[in-house]
Amino acid sequence: MTTPTIELKPSANPLSVAEREGILANPGFGRHFTDHMVTIKWTEGRGWHDGQLVPYAPISLDPATTVLHYAQEIFEGLKAYRQPDGSVATFRPEKNAERFQRSARRLAMPELPVETFIEACDALVKQDKAWVPAHGGEESLYLRPFMIATEVGLGVKPANEYLFLVIASPAGAYFPGGVKPVSIWVSEDRVRAVPGGMGDAKTGGNYAASLLAQAEAATKGCDQVCYLDAVEHTWVEELGGMNLYFVYGNKIVTPSLTGSILEGVTRDSLLAVARDLGYEAEEGRVSVDQWQRDSENGSLTEVFACGTAAVITPVGTVKRAGTEWKQSGGEPGEVTLRLRQALLDVQRGTAPDAHGWMHRL
Ligand code: COI
Repeated sequence: MTTPTIELKPSANPLSVAEREGILANPGFGRHFTDHMVTIKWTEGRGWHDGQLVPYAPISLDPATTVLHYAQEIFEGLKAYRQPDGSVATFRPEKNAERFQRSARRLAMPELPVETFIEACDALVKQDKAWVPAHGGEESLYLRPFMIATEVGLGVKPANEYLFLVIASPAGAYFPGGVKPVSIWVSEDRVRAVPGGMGDAKTGGNYAASLLAQAEAATKGCDQVCYLDAVEHTWVEELGGMNLYFVYGNKIVTPSLTGSILEGVTRDSLLAVARDLGYEAEEGRVSVDQWQRDSENGSLTEVFACGTAAVITPVGTVKRAGTEWKQSGGEPGEVTLRLRQALLDVQRGTAPDAHGWMHRL
Protein backbone atom coordinates (compact mmCIF):
# COMPACT_ATOMS: atom_id res chain seq x y z
CA MET A 1 0.00 0.00 0.00
CA THR A 2 1.37 3.42 -0.90
CA THR A 3 1.40 6.26 1.63
CA PRO A 4 0.87 9.57 -0.15
CA THR A 5 2.25 12.79 1.27
CA ILE A 6 -0.25 15.56 1.86
CA GLU A 7 0.46 18.69 -0.15
CA LEU A 8 -0.56 21.89 1.67
CA LYS A 9 -2.61 24.40 -0.30
CA PRO A 10 -3.89 26.70 2.48
CA SER A 11 -6.86 28.99 1.98
CA ALA A 12 -6.08 32.53 0.90
CA ASN A 13 -9.35 33.59 2.44
CA PRO A 14 -10.00 31.96 5.85
CA LEU A 15 -12.88 33.14 8.05
CA SER A 16 -12.03 36.27 10.05
CA VAL A 17 -11.01 35.92 13.70
CA ALA A 18 -14.23 37.65 14.76
CA GLU A 19 -16.41 35.27 12.72
CA ARG A 20 -14.54 32.23 14.04
CA GLU A 21 -14.78 33.43 17.64
CA GLY A 22 -18.50 34.01 17.14
CA ILE A 23 -18.95 30.39 16.03
CA LEU A 24 -16.75 29.01 18.81
CA ALA A 25 -18.87 30.84 21.39
CA ASN A 26 -21.82 28.57 20.54
CA PRO A 27 -20.83 25.88 18.02
CA GLY A 28 -23.73 23.41 18.45
CA PHE A 29 -23.02 20.07 16.78
CA GLY A 30 -22.07 19.66 13.12
CA ARG A 31 -23.30 23.07 12.00
CA HIS A 32 -20.04 24.88 11.23
CA PHE A 33 -16.88 23.75 9.46
CA THR A 34 -13.29 24.91 9.61
CA ASP A 35 -11.35 26.60 6.80
CA HIS A 36 -9.75 23.49 5.31
CA MET A 37 -10.25 19.84 4.42
CA VAL A 38 -8.01 16.97 3.36
CA THR A 39 -8.63 14.97 0.20
CA ILE A 40 -6.81 11.82 -0.99
CA LYS A 41 -7.74 9.84 -4.10
CA TRP A 42 -7.56 6.12 -4.75
CA THR A 43 -7.53 4.62 -8.21
CA GLU A 44 -7.35 0.95 -9.09
CA GLY A 45 -3.83 0.04 -10.22
CA ARG A 46 -2.38 3.21 -8.71
CA GLY A 47 -3.48 3.09 -5.07
CA TRP A 48 -3.63 6.20 -2.87
CA HIS A 49 -2.43 9.39 -4.50
CA ASP A 50 -2.85 13.16 -4.70
CA GLY A 51 -3.10 13.86 -0.96
CA GLN A 52 -3.97 17.53 -0.47
CA LEU A 53 -4.98 19.92 2.25
CA VAL A 54 -7.19 22.48 0.50
CA PRO A 55 -9.73 25.19 1.41
CA TYR A 56 -13.05 23.72 2.63
CA ALA A 57 -15.36 23.80 -0.39
CA PRO A 58 -18.17 21.88 -2.11
CA ILE A 59 -17.10 18.87 -4.16
CA SER A 60 -18.51 18.27 -7.60
CA LEU A 61 -19.80 14.79 -8.55
CA ASP A 62 -21.19 13.39 -11.77
CA PRO A 63 -24.88 12.45 -11.25
CA ALA A 64 -23.97 8.82 -12.04
CA THR A 65 -21.30 8.59 -9.31
CA THR A 66 -21.54 5.19 -7.58
CA VAL A 67 -21.92 6.51 -4.02
CA LEU A 68 -25.07 8.42 -4.99
CA HIS A 69 -26.79 5.23 -6.11
CA TYR A 70 -25.38 2.32 -4.13
CA ALA A 71 -24.20 4.06 -0.94
CA GLN A 72 -20.64 2.78 -0.97
CA GLU A 73 -19.55 5.12 1.83
CA ILE A 74 -17.90 4.86 5.25
CA PHE A 75 -17.05 7.42 7.91
CA GLU A 76 -15.46 8.02 11.29
CA GLY A 77 -15.80 10.48 14.14
CA LEU A 78 -13.04 11.53 16.54
CA LYS A 79 -12.19 14.63 18.54
CA ALA A 80 -9.26 17.00 19.11
CA TYR A 81 -9.02 18.59 22.56
CA ARG A 82 -7.21 21.73 23.69
CA GLN A 83 -4.71 20.82 26.41
CA PRO A 84 -3.89 22.97 29.49
CA ASP A 85 -0.65 24.25 27.87
CA GLY A 86 -2.50 25.38 24.72
CA SER A 87 -1.37 22.42 22.60
CA VAL A 88 -3.84 20.05 20.94
CA ALA A 89 -4.24 16.27 21.16
CA THR A 90 -6.59 13.80 19.49
CA PHE A 91 -8.08 10.81 21.32
CA ARG A 92 -7.08 7.30 20.14
CA PRO A 93 -6.97 8.13 16.40
CA GLU A 94 -5.46 4.71 15.64
CA LYS A 95 -8.65 3.03 16.94
CA ASN A 96 -10.71 5.02 14.45
CA ALA A 97 -8.18 4.30 11.69
CA GLU A 98 -8.42 0.56 12.38
CA ARG A 99 -12.21 0.64 12.44
CA PHE A 100 -12.14 2.61 9.18
CA GLN A 101 -10.16 -0.25 7.66
CA ARG A 102 -12.67 -2.82 8.96
CA SER A 103 -15.56 -0.76 7.56
CA ALA A 104 -13.72 -0.48 4.22
CA ARG A 105 -13.30 -4.27 4.04
CA ARG A 106 -17.01 -4.80 4.76
CA LEU A 107 -18.03 -2.41 1.97
CA ALA A 108 -15.46 -3.74 -0.54
CA MET A 109 -13.52 -0.47 -0.46
CA PRO A 110 -9.73 0.03 -0.36
CA GLU A 111 -8.10 0.22 3.07
CA LEU A 112 -6.40 3.49 3.94
CA PRO A 113 -3.13 2.86 5.84
CA VAL A 114 -3.49 3.70 9.54
CA GLU A 115 -0.58 6.14 9.36
CA THR A 116 -2.16 8.00 6.42
CA PHE A 117 -5.47 8.31 8.28
CA ILE A 118 -3.65 9.79 11.29
CA GLU A 119 -1.44 12.02 9.11
CA ALA A 120 -4.52 13.40 7.34
CA CYS A 121 -6.26 14.19 10.65
CA ASP A 122 -3.06 15.74 12.04
CA ALA A 123 -2.56 17.91 8.95
CA LEU A 124 -6.09 19.32 9.20
CA VAL A 125 -5.95 19.93 12.95
CA LYS A 126 -2.54 21.62 12.69
CA GLN A 127 -3.73 23.88 9.87
CA ASP A 128 -7.01 24.77 11.61
CA LYS A 129 -5.65 24.72 15.17
CA ALA A 130 -7.29 28.08 15.91
CA TRP A 131 -10.64 26.26 15.54
CA VAL A 132 -9.97 23.94 18.48
CA PRO A 133 -12.13 25.35 21.31
CA ALA A 134 -10.56 26.62 24.53
CA HIS A 135 -9.37 24.20 27.20
CA GLY A 136 -11.69 23.07 29.96
CA GLY A 137 -15.18 23.49 28.49
CA GLU A 138 -17.55 20.94 26.93
CA GLU A 139 -16.37 21.92 23.43
CA SER A 140 -13.84 20.18 21.21
CA LEU A 141 -13.06 19.91 17.49
CA TYR A 142 -14.95 17.00 15.92
CA LEU A 143 -13.15 15.38 12.97
CA ARG A 144 -15.15 13.57 10.32
CA PRO A 145 -12.97 11.40 8.04
CA PHE A 146 -15.00 9.66 5.31
CA MET A 147 -14.62 7.84 2.01
CA ILE A 148 -16.92 7.70 -1.01
CA ALA A 149 -16.94 5.63 -4.20
CA THR A 150 -16.39 8.06 -7.08
CA GLU A 151 -16.47 5.82 -10.16
CA VAL A 152 -19.10 7.00 -12.63
CA GLY A 153 -21.53 4.30 -13.79
CA LEU A 154 -24.61 2.38 -12.75
CA GLY A 155 -23.18 -1.14 -12.63
CA VAL A 156 -23.51 -2.72 -9.20
CA LYS A 157 -19.91 -3.64 -8.30
CA PRO A 158 -17.12 -2.29 -6.11
CA ALA A 159 -16.00 1.01 -7.65
CA ASN A 160 -12.55 1.45 -9.15
CA GLU A 161 -12.09 5.01 -7.80
CA TYR A 162 -12.56 6.49 -4.34
CA LEU A 163 -12.13 9.79 -2.54
CA PHE A 164 -11.11 10.02 1.13
CA LEU A 165 -11.78 13.31 2.90
CA VAL A 166 -11.41 14.77 6.37
CA ILE A 167 -13.47 17.75 7.47
CA ALA A 168 -13.65 19.31 10.94
CA SER A 169 -16.39 20.97 12.94
CA PRO A 170 -16.19 22.70 16.32
CA ALA A 171 -18.61 20.84 18.56
CA GLY A 172 -20.48 21.48 21.75
CA ALA A 173 -22.87 18.96 23.33
CA TYR A 174 -24.50 16.55 20.84
CA PHE A 175 -27.80 16.77 22.73
CA PRO A 176 -28.93 20.37 23.18
CA GLY A 177 -29.49 19.70 26.92
CA GLY A 178 -25.81 18.78 27.50
CA VAL A 179 -25.59 16.25 30.36
CA LYS A 180 -29.32 16.50 31.00
CA PRO A 181 -30.70 12.93 30.89
CA VAL A 182 -32.20 11.85 27.58
CA SER A 183 -35.34 9.79 26.99
CA ILE A 184 -35.24 6.53 25.04
CA TRP A 185 -37.90 4.79 22.95
CA VAL A 186 -37.31 1.03 22.70
CA SER A 187 -38.25 -0.02 19.18
CA GLU A 188 -39.52 -3.60 19.36
CA ASP A 189 -40.28 -4.06 15.66
CA ARG A 190 -37.87 -1.99 13.56
CA VAL A 191 -34.26 -3.17 13.66
CA ARG A 192 -31.01 -1.39 12.88
CA ALA A 193 -28.90 -4.27 11.62
CA VAL A 194 -29.12 -8.00 11.06
CA PRO A 195 -26.64 -10.87 11.65
CA GLY A 196 -24.31 -11.00 8.66
CA GLY A 197 -25.26 -7.45 7.70
CA MET A 198 -23.14 -4.35 8.16
CA GLY A 199 -24.16 -3.18 11.64
CA ASP A 200 -20.54 -3.28 12.83
CA ALA A 201 -19.35 -1.07 9.95
CA LYS A 202 -19.56 2.70 10.23
CA THR A 203 -21.41 3.37 7.01
CA GLY A 204 -24.05 5.97 6.21
CA GLY A 205 -26.58 3.27 5.32
CA ASN A 206 -26.87 2.20 8.95
CA TYR A 207 -27.75 5.75 9.92
CA ALA A 208 -30.25 6.08 7.06
CA ALA A 209 -31.83 2.84 8.30
CA SER A 210 -32.16 4.32 11.77
CA LEU A 211 -34.00 7.50 10.79
CA LEU A 212 -37.56 6.20 10.61
CA ALA A 213 -37.39 4.57 14.03
CA GLN A 214 -35.68 7.72 15.31
CA ALA A 215 -38.59 9.77 13.94
CA GLU A 216 -41.01 7.36 15.65
CA ALA A 217 -39.09 7.89 18.90
CA ALA A 218 -39.65 11.63 18.50
CA THR A 219 -43.41 11.08 18.10
CA LYS A 220 -43.29 9.26 21.46
CA GLY A 221 -41.61 12.32 22.95
CA CYS A 222 -38.19 10.60 23.11
CA ASP A 223 -34.71 11.86 22.18
CA GLN A 224 -33.29 8.57 20.90
CA VAL A 225 -34.34 5.15 19.69
CA CYS A 226 -32.94 1.93 21.18
CA TYR A 227 -32.68 -1.12 18.93
CA LEU A 228 -33.11 -4.75 19.90
CA ASP A 229 -31.55 -7.71 18.09
CA ALA A 230 -33.12 -8.58 14.75
CA VAL A 231 -33.79 -12.28 15.42
CA GLU A 232 -35.43 -12.54 18.84
CA HIS A 233 -36.37 -8.85 19.24
CA THR A 234 -35.23 -9.30 22.82
CA TRP A 235 -31.60 -8.31 23.35
CA VAL A 236 -30.57 -4.68 23.66
CA GLU A 237 -28.13 -3.65 20.92
CA GLU A 238 -27.50 0.10 20.67
CA LEU A 239 -29.08 3.50 20.08
CA GLY A 240 -29.34 5.24 16.71
CA GLY A 241 -25.77 6.55 16.89
CA MET A 242 -24.26 5.51 20.22
CA ASN A 243 -23.64 2.54 22.52
CA LEU A 244 -25.36 1.82 25.84
CA TYR A 245 -24.12 0.94 29.33
CA PHE A 246 -26.12 -0.49 32.25
CA VAL A 247 -24.93 0.24 35.80
CA TYR A 248 -25.61 -2.38 38.47
CA GLY A 249 -24.24 -0.72 41.60
CA ASN A 250 -20.49 -1.31 41.29
CA LYS A 251 -20.66 -3.10 37.95
CA ILE A 252 -21.14 -1.70 34.45
CA VAL A 253 -22.32 -3.87 31.56
CA THR A 254 -22.47 -3.07 27.84
CA PRO A 255 -24.01 -5.30 25.14
CA SER A 256 -21.41 -7.71 23.68
CA LEU A 257 -20.24 -7.17 20.11
CA THR A 258 -22.50 -9.54 18.22
CA GLY A 259 -21.56 -8.38 14.71
CA SER A 260 -24.57 -6.10 14.43
CA ILE A 261 -23.32 -3.56 17.00
CA LEU A 262 -20.81 -0.80 16.25
CA GLU A 263 -17.60 -1.17 18.24
CA GLY A 264 -17.48 2.30 19.76
CA VAL A 265 -14.15 3.81 20.79
CA THR A 266 -15.81 5.48 23.81
CA ARG A 267 -17.48 2.15 24.66
CA ASP A 268 -14.09 0.42 24.61
CA SER A 269 -12.35 3.18 26.57
CA LEU A 270 -14.98 3.07 29.32
CA LEU A 271 -14.34 -0.61 30.01
CA ALA A 272 -10.78 0.42 30.95
CA VAL A 273 -11.65 3.69 32.72
CA ALA A 274 -14.26 1.89 34.85
CA ARG A 275 -11.76 -0.81 35.88
CA ASP A 276 -9.18 1.89 36.71
CA LEU A 277 -11.74 3.42 39.07
CA GLY A 278 -12.38 0.08 40.77
CA TYR A 279 -15.67 -0.86 39.10
CA GLU A 280 -16.33 -4.22 37.52
CA ALA A 281 -16.81 -3.75 33.78
CA GLU A 282 -18.07 -6.40 31.41
CA GLU A 283 -19.70 -7.12 28.08
CA GLY A 284 -22.84 -9.24 28.17
CA ARG A 285 -26.42 -9.72 27.06
CA VAL A 286 -29.19 -7.58 28.53
CA SER A 287 -32.79 -8.16 27.47
CA VAL A 288 -35.34 -5.39 27.36
CA ASP A 289 -37.48 -7.30 29.89
CA GLN A 290 -34.50 -7.54 32.24
CA TRP A 291 -33.84 -3.82 31.74
CA GLN A 292 -37.41 -3.00 32.81
CA ARG A 293 -37.53 -5.55 35.66
CA ASP A 294 -34.15 -4.57 37.13
CA SER A 295 -35.00 -0.88 36.92
CA GLU A 296 -38.25 -1.51 38.73
CA ASN A 297 -36.66 -3.67 41.45
CA GLY A 298 -33.84 -1.14 41.89
CA SER A 299 -30.88 -3.41 41.06
CA LEU A 300 -30.21 -1.55 37.78
CA THR A 301 -29.16 1.76 39.22
CA GLU A 302 -28.22 3.82 36.12
CA VAL A 303 -28.14 3.65 32.32
CA PHE A 304 -26.08 5.86 30.03
CA ALA A 305 -25.36 6.29 26.34
CA CYS A 306 -21.85 6.81 25.03
CA GLY A 307 -20.15 7.79 21.79
CA THR A 308 -17.61 10.26 20.45
CA ALA A 309 -20.29 12.83 19.72
CA ALA A 310 -22.46 12.10 22.77
CA VAL A 311 -19.48 11.58 25.17
CA ILE A 312 -21.49 10.06 28.06
CA THR A 313 -25.12 11.04 28.29
CA PRO A 314 -27.36 9.77 31.10
CA VAL A 315 -30.64 8.05 30.27
CA GLY A 316 -33.51 9.49 32.33
CA THR A 317 -36.70 7.96 30.92
CA VAL A 318 -37.32 4.75 29.00
CA LYS A 319 -40.51 4.06 27.04
CA ARG A 320 -41.62 0.87 25.34
CA ALA A 321 -45.01 -0.10 23.96
CA GLY A 322 -47.58 0.39 26.72
CA THR A 323 -45.22 1.35 29.55
CA GLU A 324 -42.45 3.65 30.70
CA TRP A 325 -40.13 4.05 33.65
CA LYS A 326 -37.58 6.44 35.11
CA GLN A 327 -33.90 5.62 35.33
CA SER A 328 -32.15 6.80 38.55
CA GLY A 329 -35.15 9.01 39.31
CA GLY A 330 -34.68 10.79 35.98
CA GLU A 331 -31.44 12.39 37.24
CA PRO A 332 -27.85 11.82 36.05
CA GLY A 333 -26.45 8.90 38.10
CA GLU A 334 -23.36 9.11 40.28
CA VAL A 335 -21.40 6.41 38.42
CA THR A 336 -22.33 7.93 35.06
CA LEU A 337 -21.04 11.34 36.09
CA ARG A 338 -17.87 9.90 37.65
CA LEU A 339 -16.98 7.94 34.51
CA ARG A 340 -17.78 10.94 32.32
CA GLN A 341 -15.51 13.19 34.36
CA ALA A 342 -12.68 10.63 34.44
CA LEU A 343 -12.75 10.20 30.66
CA LEU A 344 -12.98 13.94 29.97
CA ASP A 345 -10.09 14.59 32.39
CA VAL A 346 -7.84 12.32 30.30
CA GLN A 347 -9.06 13.87 27.03
CA ARG A 348 -8.55 17.42 28.31
CA GLY A 349 -5.12 16.58 29.69
CA THR A 350 -5.95 17.20 33.35
CA ALA A 351 -5.50 13.57 34.46
CA PRO A 352 -2.61 11.17 33.73
CA ASP A 353 -2.93 9.39 30.38
CA ALA A 354 -2.36 5.93 31.90
CA HIS A 355 -3.20 4.05 28.70
CA GLY A 356 -1.27 6.27 26.26
CA TRP A 357 -4.50 7.27 24.50
CA MET A 358 -3.73 10.90 23.70
CA HIS A 359 -2.05 11.66 20.38
CA ARG A 360 -0.26 14.98 20.75
CA LEU A 361 0.25 17.10 17.68
C1 COI B 1 -19.99 9.70 16.71
O1 COI B 1 -20.26 9.62 17.91
O2 COI B 1 -18.90 10.09 16.31
C2 COI B 1 -20.98 9.33 15.73
O3 COI B 1 -20.60 8.94 14.67
C3 COI B 1 -22.40 9.43 16.08
C4 COI B 1 -23.22 10.30 15.19
C5 COI B 1 -22.92 11.75 15.26
C6 COI B 1 -23.34 9.79 13.80
